Amino acid sequence: MIRKDCQKVIITAALPYANGSIHIGHLLEYIQADIYARFLKLTGKGAAGKDGAGNDVLYICASDMHGTPVEVNAQKAGKDPEQFARGYWKEHQQDFASFLIQFDNYYKTHSPENRQLAEYFYHELNKKGHIYRKKIRTIYCTYCVRSLPDRYVRGTCPYCTTQDQYGDICESCSSALKGIDLINPKCTLCGRAPRQKESEHYFFRLSSFAEQLRKWLDDPESGLQEEMRNSLQEWMEKGLEDWCISRDAPYFGFEIPNSKEETGEVKYFYVWLDAPIGYISSTENYCKRMGGAGQGKKRRAKGKKDAKKCSWQDYWMKGKVHHFIGKDISYFHFLFWPAMLLALNIPLPTLTVHGFVTVNGQKMSKSRGTFFTAKDFLKLYPAESLRFYYASHLDRHVNDIDLNFEDFKAFNNHVLMGNLGNFCYRVLSFAEKNYGVVKAVQKKGEKEREKEKEILGLIAEIRRNYAAQDFKSAVRNILALADLGNAYFQQAEPWKNPQKAAAFVGWQVNLARNIGIMVSPLLPAFSAKIQDALGEKSENNNKKSWNWNDIKFNWKGKVKKINHLVEKIEKIPSSQTFPLRLMVGRIMEVKEHPNADTLYVLSVDLGKGLGKKQVVAGLKKYFSASALKNRKAIFCVNMKPAVIRRQKSEAMILVADDGDSASLLDAEKSRVGEEAAFEGLENSKKEVTFEEFKSLLITVEHGQVWFEGKRLATAEEAIAVHGVKEKARIL
Ligand code: 2FM
Ligand code: ZN
Repeated sequence: MIRKDCQKVIITAALPYANGSIHIGHLLEYIQADIYARFLKLTGKGAAGKDGAGNDVLYICASDMHGTPVEVNAQKAGKDPEQFARGYWKEHQQDFASFLIQFDNYYKTHSPENRQLAEYFYHELNKKGHIYRKKIRTIYCTYCVRSLPDRYVRGTCPYCTTQDQYGDICESCSSALKGIDLINPKCTLCGRAPRQKESEHYFFRLSSFAEQLRKWLDDPESGLQEEMRNSLQEWMEKGLEDWCISRDAPYFGFEIPNSKEETGEVKYFYVWLDAPIGYISSTENYCKRMGGAGQGKKRRAKGKKDAKKCSWQDYWMKGKVHHFIGKDISYFHFLFWPAMLLALNIPLPTLTVHGFVTVNGQKMSKSRGTFFTAKDFLKLYPAESLRFYYASHLDRHVNDIDLNFEDFKAFNNHVLMGNLGNFCYRVLSFAEKNYGVVKAVQKKGEKEREKEKEILGLIAEIRRNYAAQDFKSAVRNILALADLGNAYFQQAEPWKNPQKAAAFVGWQVNLARNIGIMVSPLLPAFSAKIQDALGEKSENNNKKSWNWNDIKFNWKGKVKKINHLVEKIEKIPSSQTFPLRLMVGRIMEVKEHPNADTLYVLSVDLGKGLGKKQVVAGLKKYFSASALKNRKAIFCVNMKPAVIRRQKSEAMILVADDGDSASLLDAEKSRVGEEAAFEGLENSKKEVTFEEFKSLLITVEHGQVWFEGKRLATAEEAIAVHGVKEKARIL
């Protein structure tokens, strides 16, 4: 039954694209939102307080299935986009569950609910005059037979003339670009020059919401983070441009109703129109699963006798909504999305924005061996170690968070295990071995009462920390409690006379139990093990779900054997060095060597850092000059410069050779000047000789390049080789 007397709260995390695996960068946000949702649930149901803790809290998410990348990658994989996206939808759910991220509903944007709601939003916006049509110039590749989104064109930046930039932003001068601005554009799918095409599109009048948005942003009640207030101020000052909400076919998304009649072509909703609506449609799907209005008894979730009757409106119109997002998608969530909600008279959400994850101080990178998918990470480390590490760095600021593996290991072994885990384990196993049962504390000494007062103060502060999403401080204060406990235990030396110490240890068991309750949002499995040892059951003999109100100092009962709480971390990714420095370069010019029949003299662009270099290469028997020109390839750039038949050679080109044929290494997706490295190995900057180069056994297997079992990759891609036999050598 739906309870009317309690606050409804929706917590969301951004909907991940169903186009790739969840990685440790994603996990920060899902863990952050999970901690908050678990805290609100822990403090709900009878323990609700003024701190926003509600009684009916849903953690809602979904996979974002639409858009060009899903469509293009599905095509490459030979699957239809829906089937392709569904695979990731399933994978995402497993990955989140493996990190103990507990959604009340995890849905998908390619769903009937989302289609219906997207159309509903569109009709409402249209009806109220917020949509208009306009002809614009788009980029069209006649060879690929498609319009190209900005990310699918590369060319020269019109502002700083840096070559090879994506059509949305210049990485060199940071100018925001549009695909049509690029000089000498190329389609990233086929490499050919696209042309411009006129096409009629649908626009949302964002500009007419400027005033309402400003009011919201200025409102102290809107819960805006200071950093965000500043960015928003800037955006508003620059002026709000209307937003193109349609895309041309081929596209994976929902058709815009009547678009064929209105524009002569079928148009689709831009992925960012229906993605945030996915928050609502996932809520609606939850209500359906729970046996919502119109669903009939038969379809109610099995075994849910107390099935709720609800609809998304119960939550979105009458409750509170709290979105967790990364800073890269704040424009969508602070401008477009609220404007749409305003137009439909839906109350505005609160947003928490977090920064990016770096690993060992740098952007995550495949070549540095610091890019971990959720699955890769779990093969090496426990989920709760990452949860605890992230929590210990999170507060409600937009700072980037560095996952430093040295710190990660030390924090896990010395703090999570050595302090927190050690205290709880030590006290509970001591009680189990010596008494088996903890008796109600009869009379407390002056000292215990004093300690309790101090501890209750800390507990109240921990609750405030959680409520303010200052998880860093919550962790610090929980650790302070464990420190206190450890110190008392050490001082009291209960092992000297266990019988005399029974009351003291009973009191310590209470402290460990309270810690078990308080860490449950951060460490659900750790908490559950403590609860199992204490055997707490609810009235119907099921496992009781702990509540903040269960914190007390007069618990009594049987203590069972406790399982160990934390796993030690032994190894972290090492950063050994590889003797060569490998880099992506583009062959700009190919000339015959004046003094040697088998050699070419190449002029190679190695990007901003190294510039142009001359390379002498014995490639004539394998490649024509035109086959080499403009190709990207991998170069060794720390070779001792040599003079080969009176032509200087400043770098070496890597070639796969199987004895019969040869092939360049493929690096088309990577940027010129970018490093390529064997995973987990760092390129050396020290000069090497040709002999040293020759002594390294680099091979080709499964179409990829390997050194001692490690794969060659850039930040973007694993380097591939085509057209040579297995076990070819790199020369
Ligand atoms: O940036 C992304 O990964 C998007 N898929 C996030 C969407 S969040 C919401 F608006 F749906
Ligand atoms: Zn093309």
